[in-house]
Amino acid sequence: MTDGPRSLPFPFPVVEWRDGAVVLMDQCRLPEELTFRVCDDVPGLCAAIRELAVRGAPAIGVAAAWGMALSWDLSVRAGCDSGAAADRLILDRDALAATRPTAVNLFWALDRQMRTAESAIAMDSGPEIVGRMLAAEAAIIREEDVALGLAMGAAGAALLPDTATVLTHCNAGGLATGGYGTALGVIYAAHDAGKKVRVYADETRPLLQGARLTAWELNARGVPVTVICDGAAASLLRSGRIDAVITGADRIARNGDTANKIGTYSLALAAREHGVPFYVAAPSSTLDARCSDGGAIPVEERDHSEVLGFRDVKWSPDGVDAWNPAFDVTPAGLIEAIVTERGVHRAPFSESLAWIEDESLS
Ligand code: MRU
Repeated sequence: MTDGPRSLPFPFPVVEWRDGAVVLMDQCRLPEELTFRVCDDVPGLCAAIRELAVRGAPAIGVAAAWGMALSWDLSVRAGCDSGAAADRLILDRDALAATRPTAVNLFWALDRQMRTAESAIAMDSGPEIVGRMLAAEAAIIREEDVALGLAMGAAGAALLPDTATVLTHCNAGGLATGGYGTALGVIYAAHDAGKKVRVYADETRPLLQGARLTAWELNARGVPVTVICDGAAASLLRSGRIDAVITGADRIARNGDTANKIGTYSLALAAREHGVPFYVAAPSSTLDARCSDGGAIPVEERDHSEVLGFRDVKWSPDGVDAWNPAFDVTPAGLIEAIVTERGVHRAPFSESLAWIEDESLS
């Protein structure tokens, strides 16, 4: 077991470009081992995204942006001209887009990189210049995400009392983003501002992002954290010990309906029942102007083996089936506020988030 990311820079180096490869902090192996997974081709990066070596909506977007730069770089190294490199880029874009369907940041980053390539090609730049522009854009996407995390943190921290106990689900921290965090970014900002914040982290079955990743990074940053079984959340909310629930998001529809890790919806229902505010923190890259409501959000279904066991251990008997949706959709009506880099947005979200439509149309 690692002692935590104390030796790592913060924001974390979740996705980096090193020596012609995309290098990921391997989240399949945390917290036992802090290792880095080197992806030197696009199929390798696609496999890493599917296996959750890199996960969390904004981090998947950053990885995909670097995947586009990797695709072009491999073409340049193979001596291709811009036409051949562009043909390969489209194939690699499609492969990256097919990895995980729910987090809209993936498609947002791929579209942004396609526009970068198209405008560089249109300027008649040589293939090396196009490659440099794709790499520069990927670096900007990561830096922007960290800046958005800091802005969300500042806005969201104001929602918490000076002494606050917060419940969160999954991992929406540095590991899930460009390195800082969304829901945990709010907690880091409150903690850094001197508020006494303690966190209860749902373990987040089946892949335990809460018990493994959220616990690891909060602990390392000196924020007191207590892990609970997902099934304990409703009783904890009834106990009166929780001031707020804060989660991240994988995709937010125009009306505020929010897709996030499976179990988020149950948490929001329990929070409403017990009068605890339920907040979502997400950058604008997670808002999808093309989805009018949550019914239009595709929900990933993952392999049944993830429910029937964990890693090498299988606990259900042979012949037993499972259902494994990776996400659920929390109706906007259960959400007290959505925190973005622009501040705190309240219902009706179709009005308070209307700016995203204007931006995507421009
Ligand atoms: O399957 P995962 O681990 O990629 O799911 C991640 C989540 O559901 C996070 O809460 C969400 O992406 C927000 S991350 C800032």
